[in-house]
Amino acid sequence: MNRNILVAVAWPYASADIHVGNMTGSYLPADIYARFHRLQGNQVLMVSGSDSHGTPITVRADQENKTPEKVYKEYHAKFLDLFQKSGLSYDLFTSTHTQNHFRVAQTMFSALKEKGYLYAETQKQWYSSTQERFLPDRYVEGTCYICGYENARGDQCDNCGSLLEANALIDPRSKMDGSAPELRETEHFYLDLGTLQPQIVEFLKDREDYWRPNVLRQSLGQIQANDLHGRAITRDLKWGIPVPVPGWEDKRLYVWFEAVIGYLSAAIEWASITGDEESWKDWWYNKDSRAYYFIGKDNIPFHAVIWPAELAGVGNKFGALFDEDDSHELMLPYDVPANEFLNMEGKKISGSRNWVVDGLDFLSRYDPDPLRYYLTANMPETRDADWEWSAFVARNNNELVATWGNLVNRVLSFAHKQWDGIVPDPGELRPEDLAILKIIEDGFEMVGDLYDRVKLRVALTETMRLAGEVNKYLDGKAPWFEIKEDKEAAGKTIYTAIKAIDSLKILFAPVLPFTCEQLHQILGYGKPLFGEQYTEDIKDNLGTHTVLRYREGEACCDWQLSNIQAGRPFNKPKPLFKKLEPEVAEQEIERLG
Ligand code: MF3
Ligand code: ZN
Repeated sequence: MNRNILVAVAWPYASADIHVGNMTGSYLPADIYARFHRLQGNQVLMVSGSDSHGTPITVRADQENKTPEKVYKEYHAKFLDLFQKSGLSYDLFTSTHTQNHFRVAQTMFSALKEKGYLYAETQKQWYSSTQERFLPDRYVEGTCYICGYENARGDQCDNCGSLLEANALIDPRSKMDGSAPELRETEHFYLDLGTLQPQIVEFLKDREDYWRPNVLRQSLGQIQANDLHGRAITRDLKWGIPVPVPGWEDKRLYVWFEAVIGYLSAAIEWASITGDEESWKDWWYNKDSRAYYFIGKDNIPFHAVIWPAELAGVGNKFGALFDEDDSHELMLPYDVPANEFLNMEGKKISGSRNWVVDGLDFLSRYDPDPLRYYLTANMPETRDADWEWSAFVARNNNELVATWGNLVNRVLSFAHKQWDGIVPDPGELRPEDLAILKIIEDGFEMVGDLYDRVKLRVALTETMRLAGEVNKYLDGKAPWFEIKEDKEAAGKTIYTAIKAIDSLKILFAPVLPFTCEQLHQILGYGKPLFGEQYTEDIKDNLGTHTVLRYREGEACCDWQLSNIQAGRPFNKPKPLFKKLEPEVAEQEIERLG
């Protein structure tokens, strides 16, 4: 069945470079998922952008003596470069600092307000007398009042995963200068999560069958631990989205409240850029569409509790305020397949201690597909994983080069030489040929099902196992000997192997788009496997922002066993992967720290 799939990808803060842990946490799995569904013939919309507001950006701006705008633009440009080089095929990667996003976020705010889910209240917040300003939640640290962890942040405890009320932190200290802040009164709008609680409980119902257990556990735990109550969604800041209420000119929408709205605003911006203004509704107003949110585990409460509450809260009011159509409700998330963390050589990744592998730096020395391969084969889907350079080298050499790359190379080189670059006519296939093709054919259902259920790691290892099966078949038949006795028999083997390779190309393609595209061309296809990525400048009344886009190609292939025909010309193969020397691991470890 044809479906609309919204691939909603975490919005990186435009204040730090993206490392391999961020990539495997959310951006890469999202891209694999999007590519898989495109190959299935589904309508995919993959959106995200730079999270350009909030204290991460203003703090960086203060440190570097730049405007927040300059900071976000510099990081944003690097994100676009990295995402193109690593093949992250966003239909739209934009930013929260756009006129469109301001309008959508303010409309969501107003809709929630009209529905009665917002209230204004004067409350005490941490105020730094040394800095003469209110401290953002993230810049207050103290002891978690739920679990007793001593280094909890004001907004969230990384030990028990709870969202916190910053002003209830025990023994607070400013992260800026270590001084003890005091509580002072300030007025803010609150999202009434208490009143929305039944809707959140309803949303989290019946998810056991397909949600990752720890995502569901954390989300339900959130409700039980805190018994949800109002959360402030405005802040005393200058940078960000103005609160659309007279008299509130000095305050801004809280970055987490508005950033998640980006999933909706980016779809709307995408529709308007493509010129089909209404098309975002195929994902957002369509009960048969499915929205998947790819995020890291530290973002679970915001995506599995607060964002669904915002969406359920506005109901049909968003449409009513936005485009005068109140007959539809916005779609709630279908799944939130959050990943756990990636460590680095056994230790926590740390940018400040340089215990990290930066995305662009990696790609200045290695190709994107080996990175995508290693990160997927080792993806922290159910528990934390560890990046080990020696494992990267070993998997590259043993799996990409020796198993898959070598299979492709030996079959196509031999075939090209012996049959002059033409797929041989097999005549009638033998039982062993049919048997291996049956194994591969069954793989489409098995691997497809794994991809679909966001079990990307197993989907990939199963595909590599299938490549191993074809190698075994090939070693058993040994066409290089067969040909000396009986060229027709060797032709059957080679035809079968080409068909298997052409099929495995489809199964590998979501993870290895660059090399599968190369193989696809070697096999003589006219239309590429995937579309193209490109950037574009968009002007609005906030200035110009550059976006990353994806132009869908013409469908070239189906998610099923290859139908490659005898007599078809193909090109001389070139190796898809490079072997790495074992010293590489040592050299790279030297760079750490
Ligand atoms: N910028 C946040 C982070 O990097 C993620 C935001 S996801 C969003 O942790 F949807 F809220 F934007
Ligand atoms: Zn805690």
